[in-house]
Amino acid sequence: MSEEEKFGSLARLFRLDGKVALVTGGSRGIGRMIALGFAEAGADIVLTSRKLPDLESVAAEVAQLGRKALPVAANIRHNEEHEGVVKRAIEEFGHIDILVNNAGTNVTYATLFDLEEKAWDVTMDLNLKSMFFLSQRVAAEMKKQGKGGSIINIASDAGFRPYPGMGVYSISKAAVRMLTEVFAQELGPYNIRANTIAPSVTRTRLSEALWTDDNNLRRKKMNTSLGRIAEPIEMAGAALYLASDAASYMTGQTLLLDGGEYSMIQDALKTLPRKDA
Ligand SMILES: NC(=O)c1ccc[n+]([C@@H]2O[C@H](COP(=O)([O-])OP(=O)(O)OC[C@H]3O[C@@H](n4cnc5c(N)ncnc54)[C@H](OP(=O)(O)O)[C@@H]3O)[C@@H](O)[C@H]2O)c1
Repeated sequence: MSEEEKFGSLARLFRLDGKVALVTGGSRGIGRMIALGFAEAGADIVLTSRKLPDLESVAAEVAQLGRKALPVAANIRHNEEHEGVVKRAIEEFGHIDILVNNAGTNVTYATLFDLEEKAWDVTMDLNLKSMFFLSQRVAAEMKKQGKGGSIINIASDAGFRPYPGMGVYSISKAAVRMLTEVFAQELGPYNIRANTIAPSVTRTRLSEALWTDDNNLRRKKMNTSLGRIAEPIEMAGAALYLASDAASYMTGQTLLLDGGEYSMIQDALKTLPRKDA
């Protein structure tokens, strides 16, 4: 087999032809780019978030790529709305092969002493609890279909090291990593894989406060090997890998996409004895 043929077959592993992907929070930011990337790779897409007009505009972009998109408005934080989303997806396409649990929120900047219970509940309900119960429902469909599947959970680098003032968000995102490991263990026998993507600051509405503030942005750039924050498409590339057969032997893992944030390593290096000291 020639090198060209080999590369040809490797590239085919990244295709999603004939697959259906359900993307939560698909109306903007990282979710939108994942939806468009998957459509470009051949998948049909079920898009969900709370505002139908925003979903319809992404659905139109998917259609321009030659794929079908079903926009379904739902508040994913409310578990009772999950059934309707999954039902609509199955009615329209007959199957779901990929689930991207992307919808997430950070509703407050508060310290341990200031945090109100309501903010804890809203954050945990969307970032963690709804992720579990939507996955439970979709995984049951995948198991029934008998063709395996891929679940991709969007966490954050804040799940590795707490961001100041974002305690409950950081806790929720750390828990997502364990949730993924539990899914991987329990769903592996059905060839349903589960993996996490943990982005660092990415240019979207959610993190606007972090990248529109000059001081924050400068600090972030300085602490990152690549010297910049991320763009949504850079998360979509990782999602495409995890969704596709290119990642067929990968499950239970977290891809940390933080541009090589090395401030902690730098600090550690300062404590090492230097040769010239
Ligand atoms: N951007 C970053 O720097 C960054 C870094 C690390 C991790 N992340 C994670 O990446 C994921 C995507 O965030 P993003 O940056 O792309 O944010 P974004 O641009 O604000 O998009 C969030 C998406 O989630 C939807 N959404 C919010 N609440 C929802 C709810 N209750 N039910 C259904 N949909 C809901 C939003 O639509 P509606 O508001 O219309 O519902 C929107 O489509 C999140 O899990 C976030 O924690 C982001």
